Amino acid sequence: MEQADLIWHNGELVAWEDAKIHVLTHGLHYGTGVFEGERAYETPAGTAIFRHHDHLQRLLQSAELYYMPVPYTLEELRAATHELIAANGLTECYVRPIVFRGYGQMGLYPLDCNVEVTIAAWPWGAYLGEDGKRHGIRAKVASWRRISHESLIPHSKASGQYLNSVLAKIEASKAGYQEAILLDSEGFVSEGSGENIYAVRDGQIVTPPQTAGILDGISRKSIIQIAGDLGFEVIERNLVRAELTLADEVFMSGTAAELVPVREIDDHVIGEGVPGPVTLEIGRVFDDALHGRDPRYADWLDVVQVPTKTA
Ligand SMILES: Cc1ncc(COP(=O)(O)O)c(C=O)c1O
Repeated sequence: MEQADLIWHNGELVAWEDAKIHVLTHGLHYGTGVFEGERAYETPAGTAIFRHHDHLQRLLQSAELYYMPVPYTLEELRAATHELIAANGLTECYVRPIVFRGYGQMGLYPLDCNVEVTIAAWPWGAYLGEDGKRHGIRAKVASWRRISHESLIPHSKASGQYLNSVLAKIEASKAGYQEAILLDSEGFVSEGSGENIYAVRDGQIVTPPQTAGILDGISRKSIIQIAGDLGFEVIERNLVRAELTLADEVFMSGTAAELVPVREIDDHVIGEGVPGPVTLEIGRVFDDALHGRDPRYADWLDVVQVPTKTA
């Protein structure tokens, strides 16, 4: 991975290579952490974090769902992220805040264990590859089911929960596909290992609802808004697997991946096997929104003052 110079850890900026924790950190053993994935883009107004407030709000909500008191306010985390991006002189980057139970107590009762916060930022290219973004990816329905709300909390972006995504991702990758699609515990389509999913048929866009075990994606909210503004009907309802295969177009969205067309699922070609017109149109406006080129979505940008580097 690419590195940056500094990482924000519990209120201090430390050198990238010195941002270390103890091997008996609670979060490492029991997955007791919650995190976010955000991106900052170069825009005409300067470097801007996309929907920063929404990401930090989800981080605090994820923590609350696991009874984790975060020792910083949303405003403090926002300021820390700005400070970090500026200190690293990053004009475009991925941002990874993580809140986790630290070192000091072992055992499954975590509430006496201190809570630590780290924010890292570094340059990170297209998560599913530039080629995948442009021409579409090949995906496979995983044999693993998406975690259920009966056992875990799909609405929380919690570290331990990602073992589910990891298994699905390994399975898809070993079988030669770029991404996994997970069904929920009832067999309805849920989402990708790190992306929400959409099927387009006869100009109508369908995406699984909040009750299908999805992470309530911030890109998803943005895409629903953009699609509506473009005049498309977006329906949140349960989808069965065959509806993906029979769709005219399928695409996925996530902060890391951005908007990615899906050209094949389980070796069935979707539509014409190339990104379709609805995917392309929404993708173009979404990309404009991310890069501050569409004034309708200017409120989604949190501009960071990054000093220009002197030689
Ligand atoms: C499991 C999962 N689903 C969906 C998403 C998409 O969410 P967002 O658009 O907020 O990045 C992500 C990425 O964070 C994810 O990890």
